[in-house]
Amino acid sequence: MDTTQNEQLRARAQRVVPNGMYGHQATSLLPSVTPQFFSRAKGAYLWDYDGNRFIDLMSAYGPNLFGYCHDEIDAAYIEQLKIIDGATGPSAQFVELAESFVETVTHADWAMFCKNGTDATTMALMTCRAFRGKRKILIADGAYHGAAPWCTPIPVGVVDEDRAHFIYYQYNNVASLEAAVAEAGDDFAGIFATPHKHEVVYDQEAPDPAYAKAARALCDKHDGLLVVDDVRAGFRVDRDCSWHGLGVEPDLSSWGKAIANGHPISCMLGSNRAKEAAGSIFVTGSYWFAAAAMAASLKTLEIIRGSDYLERTAAMGDRLRHGLAKVAHEASLPISQTGPSQMPLIMFNKNEGGRDLALTFAFAEGMVKNGVHFHPFHNMFVNAAMTDGDIDDILTAARATAKSLPNLATYEVNPIAQMAFAGA
Ligand SMILES: Cc1ncc(COP(=O)(O)O)c(C=O)c1O
Repeated sequence: MDTTQNEQLRARAQRVVPNGMYGHQATSLLPSVTPQFFSRAKGAYLWDYDGNRFIDLMSAYGPNLFGYCHDEIDAAYIEQLKIIDGATGPSAQFVELAESFVETVTHADWAMFCKNGTDATTMALMTCRAFRGKRKILIADGAYHGAAPWCTPIPVGVVDEDRAHFIYYQYNNVASLEAAVAEAGDDFAGIFATPHKHEVVYDQEAPDPAYAKAARALCDKHDGLLVVDDVRAGFRVDRDCSWHGLGVEPDLSSWGKAIANGHPISCMLGSNRAKEAAGSIFVTGSYWFAAAAMAASLKTLEIIRGSDYLERTAAMGDRLRHGLAKVAHEASLPISQTGPSQMPLIMFNKNEGGRDLALTFAFAEGMVKNGVHFHPFHNMFVNAAMTDGDIDDILTAARATAKSLPNLATYEVNPIAQMAFAGA
């Protein structure tokens, strides 16, 4: 039997890349029909090497906010590339982009640029410790802040010392946050929080305003810094920092993914309170000052401020959520849809309680077969290139999937995913 181009690429990768792929891009975690490689991306769509087109609900795991290969944003990138990009020093875009972030994000009095979300969260961690020379950082149990030794969720290659000064609290639980601050005592440096609870596998939870306000008050009272990690949710739920709507302004926020619609740049933003500390840490990178991604980010921020993308993605997310609820109801499938509707986590539960792993994976597999790139356990992202027609096509795929589910009693979920679900 002829192998597909995707299978051929996978086989070649196995020879020259450990496991053929790594990190969140490893589709060995997903239903086996999910393509590992893509040949083209435009707007809301992806094409694999075998010519199949997918409506992409993953949006590159977050960076795709306005559509792949966006004409205006990519033109800004390409034009800048022809003039100056990575050089011995930055261009004026460095200053202009910092000014643009300060104008856009209420708590921000300054910006520092880097490349990945992990750079931005690690800089925030260092700034918290530099602020008063304290060590203890409070992190919500299970929260994802990147893949450096201090935070990678699978701590292979990590030593206990890398995690020596972290205290883990329960998201949305004020008493547990207070207990963690008490445990930190005189060594309290700061609190990290994601905008909402958006870990894989678990139901997403909106932030309780009482929790967000308590985090702010505790940082003020105990002279630490509050960090909102907006890498994933930034500009997806607000045109400002994601906690702005709650009336809570952090001292620091970390951003990446959507800020340049997929071009490589991330940043840490901060208030004047944290400016001296941020200025005291030594952080840098060979590519951090390159101008083309900054030009792309400037254009992205302009579109964020000047378009109705936020309302449209939220409305399309609602349309998807209501449509899927109807499909699931018609087929008697106990669907679980959590998170902001433009960042949906869509899974299935057993009637007697607990996740239905087989149904969750079989449904995701069916969606991929029906032309929708669909993740069984990570939140997805509605992007502004999608139309109501795309959402309706996703619902048609869902209806077809629900009608042709395999025998779940014999359906095999891969062992790595089973491990990830243990305890969920
Ligand atoms: C909340 C959050 N913080 C940090 C990161 C790390 O970002 P990056 O993968 O760009 O290093 C991510 C990535 O998914 C994230 O979701």
